[in-house]
Amino acid sequence: MKAQFGSKIGLIAATVGSAVGLGNIWRFPAEVQANGGAAFLIVYIACVFLLGIPVMLGEFALGRYGQTDAVGVYRKLSPGTPWWMTGLIGIVASYVILSFYTVVAGWTFEYLFQSITGELYETIPGDAPGSTAQFADRMAQYVSSTWKPLLYTVVVIAINLGVLLKGVQKGIERLSNLLMPLLFCLLAIFVVVALQLPGAVEGLRFFLTPDFSKITPKVVIDALGQSFFSLSLGMGVLITYASYFPRDTRLTKTAVTVSVLDLLVAVMVGLIIFPAVMSFGLQGESFEGATLVFVTLPEVFARMAGTQIWSILFFLLLFVAALTSTISIGEVSVAYFSDHLKMTRKKACLAVMLPLLVFSPICSLSNGVLSDFRIFGMTIFSCLDAFSTNILLPLGGLLMSIYLGWVAPKGFMKTQLTNDGQHPTRSAGLVSFILKWIAPVLILIIFVAGLL
Ligand code: PHE
Repeated sequence: MKAQFGSKIGLIAATVGSAVGLGNIWRFPAEVQANGGAAFLIVYIACVFLLGIPVMLGEFALGRYGQTDAVGVYRKLSPGTPWWMTGLIGIVASYVILSFYTVVAGWTFEYLFQSITGELYETIPGDAPGSTAQFADRMAQYVSSTWKPLLYTVVVIAINLGVLLKGVQKGIERLSNLLMPLLFCLLAIFVVVALQLPGAVEGLRFFLTPDFSKITPKVVIDALGQSFFSLSLGMGVLITYASYFPRDTRLTKTAVTVSVLDLLVAVMVGLIIFPAVMSFGLQGESFEGATLVFVTLPEVFARMAGTQIWSILFFLLLFVAALTSTISIGEVSVAYFSDHLKMTRKKACLAVMLPLLVFSPICSLSNGVLSDFRIFGMTIFSCLDAFSTNILLPLGGLLMSIYLGWVAPKGFMKTQLTNDGQHPTRSAGLVSFILKWIAPVLILIIFVAGLL
């Protein structure tokens, strides 16, 4: 029998679990910082509603209709055409992303561990205690070392395997039901604490007072890319999850709920990071790359009373967010192997996760012993990141919206969004219009800009 989510709450928790990830906690504030503060936030919100929700609805419609994996659904809907390759691009993208996302999830786990033991806050000979240099050196040492990151990456892969083996309801859904409330509680605690820091207002002003002159084409392109990444679009994750939606699920309501919660998390993160970082005068380069979460924030915690507690809670939050996202990314391939290649779930999980024991370590080592091996001047890690996020994701999204707007059987979206006409909704026409005329053009722009 086809697996299904067991409850509405579980379905939302799992989908939000996929959407809320490093994208919200790490990438979002870095993008806000790089793109002029509140101006970015406004454009981002527009992108979520204008493009994110319609594309999400496209994935939901395909998944729930197909009740199968991301390749199978195109075969079912347009047999004998090459459109199934759109699904395949998504699966490849998801696998590539998985190979480095597990490494980063491993870092968060290591930092959680080091916060518990207190090692993270021990001084390094030669660096002033609690200084930026101390945390930057620790990060650089850790990331480039050989064994430790490998160990934690393997732990992450093992946890993923354990959850995926348990299946959709007992694994993914149960874990999300447990972890998502925890994530929101942790965030709420941090918001309250951050807003009470001296000088918090300045951070808030930067995050919430828009300067419209800062809106440039780059801001729009970055906001579009960020909304795709954060909402888990373009690689079949949501097609796969929607294949576990019961037939009577109200797709529009679900998409709006998931997107608004994902946006809420991003905003809450902004309300934490900007006041905290600015309160301690740590702007500037402190947002670049991995610096924000692994260098700047530990520096903030070091200056607060209760250093270790805040550090433990934060890296727990980060780990939870990363874990539920990696699981959703893994499920795309698991569904493909089991639905399409007809493997048992157990075999499919092993077939997906075991090769990661080779791929993820290569990504990890490319920050250390393999760092001289470069592709287009980038380490393997950065190259895979750029290739999947800038090329494969938008390409997957572009092809999907062209398919839904122009190729799919007439009335497909409408039938799906209204549950076969049982729940007429005015938004169906608007969504179809966006998928036909607006989404392909906008995604094409992100795609081309990402190549330049
Ligand atoms: N949405 C996740 C995040 O914000 C990342 C992700 C992208 C997960 C694509 C699944 C698919 O971190």
